[in-house]
Formats: sequence, structure tokens, C-alpha cells
Amino acid sequence: MLKVCVCVSGGGTNLQAIIDAIKDGRITNAEIDTVISNNADAYALERAKQNGINAICLSPKSFENRDAFNDAFLDKLKEINPDLIVLAGFLVVIPPQVIRAFRNRIINIHPSLIPSFCGTGYYGLKVHEAALKRGVKITGATVHFVDEGTDTGPIIAQKAVEVKEGDTPKELQLRVMEEAEWVILPKAIDMIANGLISIGE
Ligand code: GAR
Repeated sequence: MLKVCVCVSGGGTNLQAIIDAIKDGRITNAEIDTVISNNADAYALERAKQNGINAICLSPKSFENRDAFNDAFLDKLKEINPDLIVLAGFLVVIPPQVIRAFRNRIINIHPSLIPSFCGTGYYGLKVHEAALKRGVKITGATVHFVDEGTDTGPIIAQKAVEVKEGDTPKELQLRVMEEAEWVILPKAIDMIANGLISIGE
């Protein structure tokens, strides 16, 4: 059984997609052990609690400086000792010591077709605003392993989504979530849990 830790910052619809996929058998051999949020008000924490999942808030604001937060984050992850860490809308830069300790065991969902509209400053609605500004006709989502760069790790899965005439950033965001993110993130976890994608030792 793959022990999964999901890290969140906001609404947690991707967390919900993982919970639903475990419940209805689209993800097998995996369980969410803990949800970590950097934001005490994240609705994702409520979703975790409603589903009986251990939910923790670890906010950089409660620490003296970023190094102290990073150390506490690493300590917490070591205590949980997950097989896989899923960044599901987690808007905190993952410190290098966490990447080293969990090399090839951290995956992220990004709401574009990497390498488009990714890297520093591209998160959440900003990604869709940039895609609409550039006038692309196709966008999508990507699941990738996390390395020391921003959105630079090996790609696991991608799914394209059509941009429609007159889309607002919010409309596009919702279509990308429904058609791509909530599909490929559970699928990637299922593939990892069932040994179809290898993760590091
Ligand atoms: C999702 O669209 C996710 O792809 C994005 O944040 C949103 C979180 O929504 N992540 C990034 O932009 C990471 N660079 P959720 O809390 O409802 O899952």
C-alpha cells in the first residue's frame, strides 16, 4: 500500500479528486496518510477532516524565518515517512533538503502543458491569464516529478484541453481542472502505486 502525503494551499479540488478516485477504485494500492497545508484557512483541510484524513497546518508565518519553516517541514515529512508526496496546488517552494530526502518521490500537478506557462510566477489563475493573453488554442495540465527547478522535473502525464472563444481565466481554469487535472493526477498516483511508473529508492 503506497502511503501518500498530499500538500495543499487552497480549495483542494485536486485533493478531492484523489479521495474520490481512491473511494471508487480508480486508484488502488494507495492511501492518503496525511494532508499538509501551509494555509490554516484552506478548504482542503476541511475536505481532509470530512474524510477522516489526518490534516496538519504548517505555515511559514508561524516560524521565525524560512529556514526554520523548511527544517520543520522536513522533520514533519520524515515523521510521516510517506512513499509519495503529492503537491496538489501547494504554493510553497519545496526546499532542496526536502527534494534530496524524497528524490523522485514528489510529484506536482501544474495547470498548463509544460514547458508552456510554467516556472516562477506561474501558479493558479495566473497560468490561465497568461495562456489567454498569448492566445493559445490548446492548453492543459501536466503531472511531473519535482526536482530542484520550478516545474522542470521529468514529465509523467499530460492532457490537452481546448481554449474556447471568449473564455475568462476562471472558465478556462475550471475546464482544465475538470478535463485534465482531476483525471491525470489520480491516474499518475494509481500508476505509481501499481508499479507502472518507477519511483526512486
Ligand atoms: C490547481 O489548478 C493546480 O494545478 C494549481 O493550483 C490549483 C489548486 O487547486 N497549481 C499550480 O498552479 C502549481 N504551480 P485546488 O486547491 O482546487 O486543487
